[in-house]
Amino acid sequence: MKISIVLGTRPEIIKMASIIDEIKLRGHQLLLIHTGQHYDHEMSDQFFEELELPTPNYNIGVGSGSHGKQTGKMMEGIEKVLIAEKPDILLVQGDTNAVLAGALVATKLHIPVGHVEAGLRSYDNTMPEEINRKAADVCSMFYFVPTTESAINLSLEGILRSHIYVTGNTVVDACFRNLKIAKKRFDLDDLAKDNNNNNNNNNENENFGNLIKLDNILTLTMHRAENVDNKKRMTNVVNALSELTDLNIIFPIHPRTKKQLAEFDLYDKLDSLDNVHLIKPLGYLEFLLLLSKSRLILTDSGGLQEEAITLDIPVLTLRYNTERPETVTAGGNILVGCNNENIVDSANKILNDKEFYSKMVSARNPYGDGTSGKQILDIIEKKLELEMFKIEAPDDIMNSFVTKMTQVIDDIDVSEFEEKNNAVVRIVYSEKQDTMEFPTDNLKLKGKYVLFDRIMN
Ligand code: UD1
Ligand code: UDP
Repeated sequence: MKISIVLGTRPEIIKMASIIDEIKLRGHQLLLIHTGQHYDHEMSDQFFEELELPTPNYNIGVGSGSHGKQTGKMMEGIEKVLIAEKPDILLVQGDTNAVLAGALVATKLHIPVGHVEAGLRSYDNTMPEEINRKAADVCSMFYFVPTTESAINLSLEGILRSHIYVTGNTVVDACFRNLKIAKKRFDLDDLAKDNNNNNNNNNENENFGNLIKLDNILTLTMHRAENVDNKKRMTNVVNALSELTDLNIIFPIHPRTKKQLAEFDLYDKLDSLDNVHLIKPLGYLEFLLLLSKSRLILTDSGGLQEEAITLDIPVLTLRYNTERPETVTAGGNILVGCNNENIVDSANKILNDKEFYSKMVSARNPYGDGTSGKQILDIIEKKLELEMFKIEAPDDIMNSFVTKMTQVIDDIDVSEFEEKNNAVVRIVYSEKQDTMEFPTDNLKLKGKYVLFDRIMN
């Protein structure tokens, strides 16, 4: 099987790594297309090197630019490659412009799209990522969702349950695998020596080996457009950081954020704070090591909200909404927005209130057991066998359907209900537990409400 992957940014490389490994392990042909959206060594190449990933077959080299320009260039480049290479399936991950461009181009060429990390919704259409993930979900055929919450989002939007697979999140695969490697590879004393030798005059090259030995580390990352392009929000965050003097704040700075801090005349102020250590973006192994030594995380990153709960580290999220609500309901994540007081109060509480801290640390990880890459490949191989990859115009006169809702009296499960009613179940509601449930085959329905599509012949 020829499996194509389109990726373009740091988190996509990290979260696609276990899938790429699995494709190679099983002897399938991999067609790897890099859009070139992230191009600095520390935002792209270093991840290919560290995670031992193959060099992409194609790099479209789109670079930076407006959304329209970037996405347009990606679409043109991806289309050329797909027409020439004719893969059996195309996989995209997450919510970047690569996901939008890849999914749109492939589906119009009748190449089935598998969306890894599908079904996330922040319900905030001002985020470019929300538009990307929703548009990609319209174009996809296989939905690899991290949790049942995301499965329910898709079901409610009318996606057939037979196309939705709850596989956990591949970030857990990446975390578990690479933290072990990182801990083995880096003896902290050696790291300190190495970094001393490499030091130059750049203020973002503080000695990582020494930094990681500090107590009370807060790891900070920020790059989300709605935050870092907004002067008021950035000023609030810088002010909050200046008050957190009991913490050693380590801030590997994203290039977008560096540019914006300079634009708003905030970079020098931030750099002058004794408790803040600005460093270049780290490689994945060093970054995981840093997280594992951190008392808490402050971030607007999607991936970091997931990694925090995976590694049992409390996280304060610099956002007003999240497409990862499972982390909040589990108790491991608090949304603090870019509000000075919220940030300072919550950070101090985590630092000083032992009970509060241990409650956050023991939040259950909703993202699976680190086998997502394997599960996704198992599903793809099975679907190939069932010839589910063909996108062809139908010869049959189309059935229509009507959407209905009913309470189930009989003691039957979802499969039996569907057979009996010539229907496809979308969602199940249990009044007793006051929860919505994703309709898996064996889910018992007695007493529950069912939203379903009845097929009309
Ligand atoms: C992109 C994704 C975002 C993801 C993030 C991961 C979209 C719409 N956004 O945001 O969802 O969370 O990547 O980090 O796809 N730059 C460099 N060097 C680089 C890359 C970027 O200097 O290698 C600078 C450029 O000034 C550029 C700015 O960063 O204009 C923003 O880069 P861009 O790729 O447009 O978006 P991100 O903010 O990185
Ligand atoms: N990360 C990293 N080095 C850093 C900062 C982040 O390796 O200096 C990793 C982090 O562990 C996570 C991913 O990059 O897996 C998150 O990327 P980012 O925050 O840029 O994007 P998002 O997840 O918000 O889309």
